Amino acid sequence: MSRGRIVIGNWKMNPGSSAEAVVLARSVAASPLATGVAVAVAPPALFLPAVAEALRASPVGVYAQDVHWEEQGAFTGQIAASMLAPVVLGVIVGHSEVRRDQGDDDERVAKKMVRALAHGLWTVVCVGETLDAYLAGRSASVVAAQTAVIGHAVAAAESVGARRDRIVFAYEPIWAIGTGRAATAAHATICADAIRAELQRSAGIDAEAIPVLYGGSVTAANASAFADARGIDGALVGGASLKAEFGAIVAAFSG
Ligand code: PGA
Repeated sequence: MSRGRIVIGNWKMNPGSSAEAVVLARSVAASPLATGVAVAVAPPALFLPAVAEALRASPVGVYAQDVHWEEQGAFTGQIAASMLAPVVLGVIVGHSEVRRDQGDDDERVAKKMVRALAHGLWTVVCVGETLDAYLAGRSASVVAAQTAVIGHAVAAAESVGARRDRIVFAYEPIWAIGTGRAATAAHATICADAIRAELQRSAGIDAEAIPVLYGGSVTAANASAFADARGIDGALVGGASLKAEFGAIVAAFSG
């Protein structure tokens, strides 16, 4: 089964200004054209319009880093999917830093996904285990439990319907994010298998069609191991997406 390959640069709360974000976006667009891989960047919300404008004539997509689950209303500080949809291609939901800082749990992440899909956004759902769970050998079961909530929401939400083909998962072990200690490709494959098995079970969808990205200290040096890993279809890149190194990571996933 051939799934699309996707590499997304998650800029997090970087860079420091809109002007710098535009420069960074242009540098991604100027990298040698990748074949067989969809490339995107996820800048801070405030910079989305400027970055989208800078990338308008390029194949590089723009993702938001988060979205609220409600349609509109009294939700101070939040951004609705309807506001994002004219500007971005997709959105990341459930990133562990959002779970940590905003108190998101699996239920909220599932609601965000449903809302984003209803607006036609490509939706990258992040799951991943803590260091304690990893050390206890519970990675696959933790990731499956997170995925089950998402899977049930996919099965229950009629609005998801035809948009199921815009669901992407990112396996991001929390202990690997920003630590310089990436998971092994073999471990990522085990967790990607767990995600797909659970999606098949709880959502009843053809999970072989769902792309699963790996995220957590991806670098130019380790990208090809993940590109070669069975079941891994791309990368969600944090720190290295702010550097020229991002181009080499994209190249590693390029066909
Ligand atoms: P990192 O972040 O590449 O800096 O580890 C990945 C992520 O949080 O998506």
